[in-house]
Amino acid sequence: MTAATETRVVRTRDEVRHAVRDARMAGGTVALVPTMGYLHAGHLSLVDRARELADFVAMSIFVNPLQFAPTEDLARYPRDFDRDLEMARGRGVDLVFAPGVEEMYPGGEPQVSVVPAGTLTERMEGAIRPGHFRGVLTVVAKLFGIFTPDVAVFGQKDFQQAALIRRMALDLDLGVRVEVAPIVREPDGLAMSSRNVYLSPDERERALALSRGLEHGRALFAAGERDADALRAALREALDVPGVEAEYAEAANPLTLEPVAAAEPGTVLLVAARVGRTRLIDNAVLS
Ligand code: PAJ
Repeated sequence: MTAATETRVVRTRDEVRHAVRDARMAGGTVALVPTMGYLHAGHLSLVDRARELADFVAMSIFVNPLQFAPTEDLARYPRDFDRDLEMARGRGVDLVFAPGVEEMYPGGEPQVSVVPAGTLTERMEGAIRPGHFRGVLTVVAKLFGIFTPDVAVFGQKDFQQAALIRRMALDLDLGVRVEVAPIVREPDGLAMSSRNVYLSPDERERALALSRGLEHGRALFAAGERDADALRAALREALDVPGVEAEYAEAANPLTLEPVAAAEPGTVLLVAARVGRTRLIDNAVLS
């Protein structure tokens, strides 16, 4: 038997609620993997993790307009639903929820939304993309409400996002276990991302500055470097190549995301840069 024939596709919240109720009546636990589609091996690794954690694995595919600023890439964000469905099927996803914008935001812009506050949102993505995390947390809270999953799986690739979602679940008592899975990389080290498709061959090469910088930071730490400023400088230096415009290079506490003075195991290095028109982020936890 292949799982391939079992994947169900639904477009409405009601259909999700019924499918989840049926799965629970059959005694199953439910995992959710939220995505914006244009799937790659990173997304599929989350499905594998979800499968280890629950009986029924659901994936949402929704390019959430609320998390894109007017200046960002909403209109050109890559989409290929047939290919996504093929990949989800191949990985044994039980249910794909692919709503339209009208289904998720029936009244247009929501009048109530989840707005993060505090150290987790102050810096890095929260500072550079105002309103972004409000959009992310609002759609994830809605997905948690629609699916009421036992567990939801996110990628470490978006470290600050995962930290915020974990805190949202905790602070709002959403009753969802938030699981974070490791970053899946291309063979040369580039973190997989739907946005990598924007990169020209030349940019694709320059984009390695991010993962190489993180590798260098890791190596320095392994060799005994504990001065966080020295690690930040090493990240910056790696990003200082033509055609790459660094946005931040940080060494932070993994729980608060506040900058640290001294690095220790668990400290997270985070980088963001523009390569041509494409914004890329990456991170590494020191061990
Ligand atoms: P998207 O960018 O499609 O990513 C969906 C999930 O896949 C996120 O949890 C992300 O961290 C994870 N992911 C992306 N690249 C990865 C990689 N190389 N390795 C491991 N995991 C990876 O993140 C979003 O969508 C949206 O903000 C969303 C949470 C769905 C809300 O709209």
